[in-house]
This record gives sequence, C-alpha cells and structure tokens, in this order.
Amino acid sequence: MTEALRRLVRETHLSVEQLIQPLFVVEGKGPRQPIASMPGIERLSLDEFEREIHELAGLGIGGVILFGIPDQKDEVATSAYLDDGIVQRAVSIAKKAAPNLVVITDVCLCEYTSHGHCGIVRDGKIVNDQTLEILQKVAVSHARAGADVVAPSDMMDGRVAAIRAALDAAGFPDLPILSYSSKFASAFYGPFRDAAQSTPAFGDRRSHQLDPANFREAIRESLEDVAEGADMLMVKPALPYLDVLRELRTRCDLPLAAYQVSGEYCMIKAAAMHGWMDEQRVVEETLTAIRRAGADVILTYYAKQFAQWQQNKT
Ligand code: PBG
Repeated sequence: MTEALRRLVRETHLSVEQLIQPLFVVEGKGPRQPIASMPGIERLSLDEFEREIHELAGLGIGGVILFGIPDQKDEVATSAYLDDGIVQRAVSIAKKAAPNLVVITDVCLCEYTSHGHCGIVRDGKIVNDQTLEILQKVAVSHARAGADVVAPSDMMDGRVAAIRAALDAAGFPDLPILSYSSKFASAFYGPFRDAAQSTPAFGDRRSHQLDPANFREAIRESLEDVAEGADMLMVKPALPYLDVLRELRTRCDLPLAAYQVSGEYCMIKAAAMHGWMDEQRVVEETLTAIRRAGADVILTYYAKQFAQWQQNKT
C-alpha cells in the first residue's frame, strides 16, 4: 500500500548515468537550429556544442553519441574521415570539456554521401565490401580524435570485424565497438533524417537494415557481431522491438544498449505538446520498460530532460 514498500521491491531502476544523449553538430558559428519534427532538439555549432557538453556532464548523464552534418558531401563520403571533419573536431572539444563523459561516435556514411546512402553505391546498389574500407577509415579517424567508443550503424556485413582489425592496426586495440547489431529498417527514423539531412535520394535501406518482421534474423545478426568482436550490442528502435532485446539479454553476456529513436521521441513530444499525455510519466514508463526488457544503456533524446526532472525531484 505504500510508496516506501513499492520502492523496496521495485525490480527495475533507471538512472541518469545509464543514458546517452544523441547530439547533432554542424559547421559554422551560428545559433542553435531547431529541428521541426523533434521539438526541443537542435543542431549545434561547435561553440554551442561545447556549452551543451558542460551542461550534460553537470547533469551526470552517462555519455553522448555524436552525429555530424558536414558542409561537403560526395559520392564516397570523404568528409566522414577527415582529421578536421565536423565529428572529429566535436570529439576533441568534448573530451577537453568533460573528460569523464563517455563520447560515442556514430560510424556511418549516410550523413556524408551526396546520395544519402550508408555505403558506396554502384549501379544503384550499395557495394558492401568497398564500403567496409571507408568505414575503417572513419572509425580510425574517430579514434584519433579521442572517441571513447565507436558505434557502427551502417549495417554492412562484416563491418565489426573490419573495424576491429583497422583499430588494432592503427594502435587502438583497447577502443570498444558498440555495434548497432539489430537495427531495423524503420519508419521511426524519419525525424532523424530531417535532423541529419540523410534521407536517401533514391531507394531505401531495406537491402541492409533488418525487416521489422524478422525476429530470428535479428538475433542472428547480433550474434554474428559478437563473433566478430563487438563489445556492446544495440537494438534499434527500442520500444517496438523489446522482444529482441529480451532475447539477446538471455542469449549473450555483453552489455546491451537500446536506442529510443527520433520517431519514438517525437510521438511522445507531440502528444505532450497537445496535453494528451503526461510527458514525464510516459518517458519514465517507456525508459523503464526498455530497461526491464534487458537494456543496460539507453540512447534517448530525453536523456537531458530526464536528468533535469531527476534534479528537480531531489
Ligand atoms: C545512420 C543512423 C540513423 C539513425 C542513427 N544512425 C538513420 C538511419 O539509419 O536512417 C537513426 C536515429 C534516430 O532515428 O533517432 N547514420
């Protein structure tokens, strides 16, 4: 009957240090750019980004994952692996500003290619193995910039092994790989693609991302990444795929992450803005459900707001 007793026997806990805030960084010095489909989330220039890092570290958030939006895009994603690329500069700013905040980088090409695909395109198709060579360069450039973890989200086959080999050869044998291992071809990424300007110019991502209907294949993809040397796995999106998360929890011992993606964020946000649901309670409930299903770590656009709510409680 009492909250004290309920708290005593509660099975699942949610804390700020398990949350990762995704951040979008852009070139130039301008003000924060709002993202229409993600109210409350903004694209940040590097000086705004530095301010944000201080604030997030002060709130005790576990880490950040960085997405770069470069000025220059080409067919082969050259701007994804420049030493002075947008993400590479952001990483070194973040590590200087808050050395104890975990900085994860998203390793993918879609924000850097003119066609918006996650790999090199030939005859209208993504060429898997040639893409791996570029992903290796991207991961190594993030490592050189000082990233704590690299997170490949491209869904090419064999990328974890390829990136592991490249990191080892470049002198980063201790750098962990968080693999987006069960990543579905999801309509819930829509707002992200607005934010990151990474909508494919033609076709879609169904040739390499998972069919939402496939459970066994999702588990197999993740277990393959374990065999290739992944240090952490991820299920993405989160709430529609809790069954996958739960199964992976029982099938492997690696730390598991889940990504509450842009569409999951904006559904809650839009309903809250209309006064149709209690935002804080819905966020706490969804994040708790994701933890209950088996996630150790949650990537969520609500990380900062959750941390602020927690602060107001104490
Ligand atoms: C690929 C990437 C995507 C997201 C994270 N990394 C988009 C995609 O696969 O199309 C989506 C995240 C979100 O929707 O919040 N670089």
